[in-house]
Amino acid sequence: MPTDDFATRYDAIISHPRTLALYGDSGYYNVGLWSDGVRDQRQACDRLVDELAGLIPADARFILDVGCGLGAGTRRLADHFPEAEIVGGNISPWQVDQAMRRGVKRAIVMDAVCIPLGDETADCVVAMESAQHFDTRERFLYEALRVLRPGGCIVLADMLFRDREPIGTWMLPAENDVDGPEAYAGLLREVGYRDVVARDVTSLTWTPYCEAMRAATPEHRDQIDGYEPALAYYVFAFGRKG
Ligand SMILES: C[S@@+](CC[C@H](N)C(=O)[O-])C[C@H]1O[C@@H](n2cnc3c(N)ncnc32)[C@H](O)[C@@H]1O
Repeated sequence: MPTDDFATRYDAIISHPRTLALYGDSGYYNVGLWSDGVRDQRQACDRLVDELAGLIPADARFILDVGCGLGAGTRRLADHFPEAEIVGGNISPWQVDQAMRRGVKRAIVMDAVCIPLGDETADCVVAMESAQHFDTRERFLYEALRVLRPGGCIVLADMLFRDREPIGTWMLPAENDVDGPEAYAGLLREVGYRDVVARDVTSLTWTPYCEAMRAATPEHRDQIDGYEPALAYYVFAFGRKG
C-alpha cells in the first residue's frame, strides 16, 4: 500500500471518537502495560514507557522512537533521559505535527525501513507497539542495526498476530508473521543482534487491555470478543549491536 494511504487511514483511526473515548487527550495510542496498581489506560501507557525505558542504558545520548504516534511516549522517554536527544519518527506527517505540538522537541516524517540517519549515530532505537506495522519488520531491524552505534540497543514492544483479518490486513504485512517469542528472538539474532531477550507479556498487556475496552465500551463487546484471539503474543524484546 502506498505510504500516504497508510498514514491517512491510520490517522483516521487514531483521531476517531472511539479512540479518543479511550485515550482522551493523553497523546498515547497503545495497549499499555497493566502491571500492579495500574487502574486506567493512561497509567498503563505510562507504565509501558517506564518499563521500556528501564531497558535502555542510562548513558544513552541519542534515542530514536520509531512510530512515535502522537508523541506522549516520546515525551515520557525524554523525562527518563533528560541529558539525551530523543527524536520521534513517524510515517504520518499529521502525527509528527501533533507530536511536536505536544512537546516532542524533534520529530521527523520517516518510514521505519528507511531511517534518515547516518550509520552508527543512535544509542538506542525504540519501537513501541509499532513494528507490527512496518513493511517489513525484518527490514526495519536491519535498518535499526545500521543506525545503531556499536554497543547500542534496540528495544521493542511488539505484537505477533495469528489472524490479521479482524485487525486489518492493510496495516499488518503478512511477512511480519512470527510464531512466538523464541522465533522472534531468533529473527533478532539472525539480523545480527546480540544479548537478545524476548519475553511474552500478553497476560499483562493485551488481555487486560481487552478487558478494559469491554468495560469502557460494552456496546462493542462482540467486536472485542472477535478480535482478542487475533493476537497470539505480545512481546517485549531487546537486542544489542555488537
Ligand atoms: C500503535 S501506534 C503506537 C504509537 C506510539 N508508539 C504510542 O505508543 O502511543 C503505531 C504507530 O506506528 C506508526 N507507523 C506505522 N507504520 C510506520 C512506518 N512504516 N514507519 C514509521 N511509523 C510507522 C503509526 O503511524 C503509529 O503512530
